[in-house]
Amino acid sequence: MIVLESGIGNYIYSNGKKYSYFAGNNYLGLASHPAVKEAAIQAVEKYGINFSASRHTTGTADIHLELEKSLALFKGNQDAVVFASGFQGNAILLDILKDRYSSVFCDRNAHASILAGIPDSVDSIVFYDHCDAMSLETLLKQSESNHPLVITDGVFALTGEIAPLDRIYPIVKRHNGLLVVDDAHATGILGKTGKGTTEHFGLPVDENVFQTETMSKALGGYGGFISGNTKLTGIIREKSAMYQASTALPPPIAAAGIASLGLIQGNPGLRLQALENAATVRDEIIRIGFRTAGGGTPIIPVIFDSSAKASGLSRFLEEQGIIAPFMNYPVKVEMHQIRITVSAIHTTGQIEFLLDMLHQWKKKYGND
Ligand SMILES: Cc1ncc(COP(=O)(O)O)c(C=O)c1O
Repeated sequence: MIVLESGIGNYIYSNGKKYSYFAGNNYLGLASHPAVKEAAIQAVEKYGINFSASRHTTGTADIHLELEKSLALFKGNQDAVVFASGFQGNAILLDILKDRYSSVFCDRNAHASILAGIPDSVDSIVFYDHCDAMSLETLLKQSESNHPLVITDGVFALTGEIAPLDRIYPIVKRHNGLLVVDDAHATGILGKTGKGTTEHFGLPVDENVFQTETMSKALGGYGGFISGNTKLTGIIREKSAMYQASTALPPPIAAAGIASLGLIQGNPGLRLQALENAATVRDEIIRIGFRTAGGGTPIIPVIFDSSAKASGLSRFLEEQGIIAPFMNYPVKVEMHQIRITVSAIHTTGQIEFLLDMLHQWKKKYGND
């Protein structure tokens, strides 16, 4: 396991050695951005480390309100509510919506936080084939449920695939269902202004469509959020035990979120650069002859039939000074892969070196 001895940028230090870093989810390089760090430092100076109370009791501070206002503006929604993690977001949302659905239709490869968030009280959980709108439609038709809730990752964490919401949304609508999209990997990346997969597909504003989001990936900070109308955010604040009984986001984290939102909105070129760098890597990986999936996101899997090959490639890259991890992650997928993530801050030289090393490995060891 890589143990970090530095912050994460396009390089990291581990075990006393400098590595080119093609891992994690710091897609825009904001986790170590000077303005984000400075905002966090100023917040520690002003507020200390922790408000040490829940938002519902005495833990709400002016910077939480400012962060929520900034998120609402960014998302073009009336309001937003922040909480401890993106992982919690699915449980919070599925809990407060629970009177509005009786069965859940879930992508077969959904993230662990989605599966963990489905309440025990639902009548049934049905898994449709991965990214397969036809499979969803067939299962919805077969079901007796009048009140389905369909839930999927917007961008899949391991493979970078974008869920086909353009096909899923009309199906959910035809069945009078609710659609929940976990956009953890799409926020700040997809859509003309970085609002995520709903913007990417141009879905209309619809009160039956929800996104759960995180500040821990492209935003470079930490903490989950849900945005929407004030009715939705009001219910979360009034009814969600997970929101009410959990300590408020720490001051440096709230301040970092505000700063990174400013950077994302002021520099649309950042997300374009991340996507352009990713396209360069993906195109060449395909040209070299590796198997990959997805497209149009900064996550690039290199897929193998055997775990030995996948872990071997990751080890080879590490020996060349590149971190691109072999994935052992609690999401149900029947393949072995390394996961390359490309960010806006990778240099051309770094990308060329990565591709050169992939080329060398391929020549030496082949693909399967
Ligand atoms: C699809 C998806 N949802 C939710 C999460 C959890 O987000 P967070 O790390 O903010 O808890 C992750 C991240 O690991 C994720 O990949």
